[in-house]
Amino acid sequence: MSELVTVSYIGATILFVLSLGGLSNQQTALRGNLYGMIGMTLAVLATVLGPQVSTAGIPWVVGAMLVGGLIGVYAARTVQMTQMPELVALMHSMVGMAAVLVGVATFIDPEASKGLEGAARSIHEMEIYVGVFIGAVTFSGSIVAFGKLSGRIGGNPMLLPGRHWMNLTGLLVVIWFGRAFMNAHSVDEAMVPIVVMTIVALLFGIHMVMAIGGADMPVVVSMLNSYSGWAAAATGFMLSNDLLIVVGALVGSSGAILSYIMCNAMNRSFISVIAGGFGTTSVAKKPAGGAAEPVGEVTPVNAIETAELLREAKEVVIVPGYGMAVAQAQHTVFEITKYLREKGVNVRFGIHPVAGRMPGHMNVLLAEAKVPYDIVFEMDELNDDFPKTDVVMVIGANDIVNPAAQDDPSSPIAGMPVLEVWKAKTSIVMKRSMASGYAGVDNPLFYKDNNRMLFGDAKKMLDEVLTALRA
Ligand code: TAP
Repeated sequence: MSELVTVSYIGATILFVLSLGGLSNQQTALRGNLYGMIGMTLAVLATVLGPQVSTAGIPWVVGAMLVGGLIGVYAARTVQMTQMPELVALMHSMVGMAAVLVGVATFIDPEASKGLEGAARSIHEMEIYVGVFIGAVTFSGSIVAFGKLSGRIGGNPMLLPGRHWMNLTGLLVVIWFGRAFMNAHSVDEAMVPIVVMTIVALLFGIHMVMAIGGADMPVVVSMLNSYSGWAAAATGFMLSNDLLIVVGALVGSSGAILSYIMCNAMNRSFISVIAGGFGTTSVAKKPAGGAAEPVGEVTPVNAIETAELLREAKEVVIVPGYGMAVAQAQHTVFEITKYLREKGVNVRFGIHPVAGRMPGHMNVLLAEAKVPYDIVFEMDELNDDFPKTDVVMVIGANDIVNPAAQDDPSSPIAGMPVLEVWKAKTSIVMKRSMASGYAGVDNPLFYKDNNRMLFGDAKKMLDEVLTALRA
């Protein structure tokens, strides 16, 4: 039986690697998902039916899977696309919690350490201690990230005085109690060190994410994704489950690579983001809905004038942002794209790496609306083309087209690469009001002479533009 489990685990590992490979490209993403699903089914079946689960335990596992599965299906069916990052953060928190619970259970269970002596015992204890630490940081950090992404906690960074010293002290406390934990002779003696460490780790997770400014949240989300992978790998070590170790390492390392890519995309140093303190200027977020006072003059246009500008253009670039996701305007965007392309206009899409609220957010929406992949470009591929672009349509995007990132060194998003839409002959920004975006900073683009503002819900306004184009 155990040979069969090993073979299944190897098969599942290969499928997971193929899945990650498939997910790196839109054309193969569907296949990637399929590999992942088959791999996971194989992994679960091999684990549940394998020697690690006793026959008496199977009904419990099946019961838990049914409850968990039902909750998962319900969440997947009801969650809005715009709430996905929050859901992902919540799921990361559960991986963290699982690592803590498995760690504590393994530590209390005398069976888990039976027969272990010397170095083997020390390694086992170290696995538990480190696993619980990573799990607790992931758990509390992800809960705060969930709060920030869903707007339950404010986006401004909480900067306590001497915060780096607090982090350092916390780390020293964890190391100190780690020594006490390893030297303990009984479960009772080790209880205080592990409880203190768990509390410090929970506080550390909260402090780390609270100190991060709104503009750096994308990096935090991918970083927590990576942590959840390492937490799963740690759980794998505690349970002596090779597949969990491999899968955890895959998630951990791919999350780390994604964090690195996001940091590059936002011109941030990874260490500085983890230590908190970027995006740190306290900026009052202007309320959505329009109470904010504009600084300077903006030039509003209506849908008919927008259609006119588009009709006269030869080169059009569409820059979607979070507002397109909120308005669910992607299908109308595609209709307009189709119409303009039929009339000989070269329409392309410019995607910023952190547009929306999760990596690949815009690509997913455009793929859903069946926008051809070959007209969807990344920021770097398109930025030099703006001077020869006639019209840029910015649909519900704000921070990713903010020139202050280049011009204003005191801006919280200073240094973040942006789509240089203001270099086009005309830019049209579609949004409901003058409200700021996620980072809570004003956008000088709106006041530029060659910029027009089309105020209103993106879906509604684009429907009107389409009607005007067809008229
Ligand atoms: P934002 O800067 O957040 O701007 C979105 C704009 O959409 C808002 O200013 C809003 O203005 C407008 N909007 C909202 N609902 C709308 C609707 N129904 N119709 C039309 N417009 C609507 O978005 P962005 O430009 O995509 O930039 C992304 C931001 O999110 C960055 O700061 C990034 O760091 C952050 N972030 C990204 C991620 C990832 S991984 N992508 C994760 C977390 C945070 P009105 O209220 O005036 O309409």
